Amino acid sequence: MRRVLIVGATSAIAEATARRLAADGDALFLAARNAEHLQAIADDLRVRGATQCETAVFEATDYAAHADLIEAAQTALGGLDTLLIAHGTLPDQKACEASFETTRRAIEVNALSVISILTHAANLFERERQGTIAVISSVAGDRGRQSNYVYGSAKAAVTTFLQGLRNRLHPAGVQVLTVKPGFVDTPMTSAFAKGPLWASPEQVARGIHRAIQKRKDVVYLPGFWRLIMRVIREIPEAVFKRLSL
Ligand SMILES: NC(=O)c1ccc[n+]([C@@H]2O[C@H](COP(=O)([O-])OP(=O)(O)OC[C@H]3O[C@@H](n4cnc5c(N)ncnc54)[C@H](OP(=O)(O)O)[C@@H]3O)[C@@H](O)[C@H]2O)c1
Repeated sequence: MRRVLIVGATSAIAEATARRLAADGDALFLAARNAEHLQAIADDLRVRGATQCETAVFEATDYAAHADLIEAAQTALGGLDTLLIAHGTLPDQKACEASFETTRRAIEVNALSVISILTHAANLFERERQGTIAVISSVAGDRGRQSNYVYGSAKAAVTTFLQGLRNRLHPAGVQVLTVKPGFVDTPMTSAFAKGPLWASPEQVARGIHRAIQKRKDVVYLPGFWRLIMRVIREIPEAVFKRLSL
């Protein structure tokens, strides 16, 4: 049985992942900003087999509350061995170009708040010398594109931070998992037209669950995104800057 803190637990991908953890009989501590939605998810996860399911309200940019959140999860579950960070927003790129305030908010929610939580959690997991830290980044962080480079650069910061953290925590036996989904049909992307490259939250959750079990470092979900992003990363900058991506 794992003792899991899920940050951003009302995310569609997080909820689908939590269902798999609940089916394993894990003890869960869910944090998200919408208390009512959180409660409904917690009730459902108890029915689905979670040994324990506690909740706490969480606002990503309330940095001062992050240490207490981790401590609350640790106290409620009698310890903590798994952390999944899932919250995020997909900012309007054009709005970000027009306003630094909008850009700052996007970077805070998607990068700084994640780094804040990781800073607290890393010290705990390093002391305990065990556990799994899993974070949902994105393929968008693999290369900056004109259509979403504010979101992409926040995710790139998270991906690079996790790389360093993995290197630091490896001797302590802590798994650091970077999850890089492609297009996923969730409330975040409800306005987009869907096509063959799109995955469901359940598909991505299956991949996250498997990657935790197999103690993977980095997973692209679905897996074909690894190849797509390899090709995209290989395009020379002199060519890439001319493309409308
Ligand atoms: N969907 C995709 O195509 C895709 C692709 C790659 C990566 N991702 C990443 O996957 C993760 C999960 O997203 P999703 O697709 O499952 O979307 P989602 O269902 O819209 O979930 C986003 C979550 O982030 C929370 N959130 C947003 N701003 C917050 C804040 N300031 N404080 C606390 N929580 C906040 C939302 O809370 P509320 O419910 O209260 O708004 C919601 O729970 C995100 O990190 C996203 O960047 C998604």
